[in-house]
Amino acid sequence: MKEIIKAIEKAAKRIKKAIEFSDTGYSEHTNKTGDVQLKLDIASDLIIEEEFKKVASIKTIISEEKEEATLLHESGRYIVGYDPLDGSSLIDVNLSVGSIFGIYEQGINGSDLLGAIYIVYGPRTEMVVALEGVTLYRLDESGEFIKVKDIKLNQKGKINATGATQKGWAAYHKKLVDAIFADGYRLRYSGGMVPDLHQILLKGGGLFSYPSTSDAPKGKLRLVFEVFPFAFVFEKAGGRAIDGKKNLLSLQPQHPHDTSPCFFGSNEEIGRVLDEYARE
Ligand code: AHG
Ligand code: MN
Ligand code: MN
Repeated sequence: MKEIIKAIEKAAKRIKKAIEFSDTGYSEHTNKTGDVQLKLDIASDLIIEEEFKKVASIKTIISEEKEEATLLHESGRYIVGYDPLDGSSLIDVNLSVGSIFGIYEQGINGSDLLGAIYIVYGPRTEMVVALEGVTLYRLDESGEFIKVKDIKLNQKGKINATGATQKGWAAYHKKLVDAIFADGYRLRYSGGMVPDLHQILLKGGGLFSYPSTSDAPKGKLRLVFEVFPFAFVFEKAGGRAIDGKKNLLSLQPQHPHDTSPCFFGSNEEIGRVLDEYARE
């Protein structure tokens, strides 16, 4: 596991440089989800693959930017699922983006996850590692990631991060979101799940939702690369992560690119989602 974290640190430093100085335009390719890939999506994916190739304990990698899983080391133990550059459509407006990693053993179900790591490329570069607990690191002047603190969610927060186009929301979802705003919560939503969830984790709590919509009944966010890793982080930080009814980590994708509606938050807000969705 240590070797994997070191490889992620190396990749993150290289991706940070690529974000700052290389071409931010689109490529001529689309990924499995149908998104047109930025040159930076492809470059970040290649950087991560290069670093993971040097880690013998990684058996297989599964990337958001690749159709199929790639076998790296037959005798390896871990499967790493990753989103090389999350929120990449925000690069042209210079908002924060991230990389997300889930470290699995045996399979790619939520219950196979052993650890989750994400990087935020913002005004500063930060790394969050969730194993037994959740720890925040920050890249310092010497080029090393240094521990800042442990992350623990409060029972209740003040942020309401509401994803997906409102036109496609179900009536019960709108009712839930309106009720939370009516209680004084503030909207905080950049459109990048890494900084949006990072904000909730560091400000003590709140709710991030990306629901089922009329045009995407299974939501948008991908289980293996985005949803499971963050579900793991939230649970280890003392919060919860559900699909509206069930714990996200109990889900079993049929395909590596499967998506799910998702809700991440502190306990009180997740309780409100469960109550409202039980009445649906
Ligand atoms: P990606 O850039 O890897 O395709 O992911 C973007 C995701 C996620 O970061 C964010 O929460 C969500 O898309 C935003 O979607 P909406 O604009 O539909 O709210
Ligand atoms: Mn993503
Ligand atoms: Mn991505």
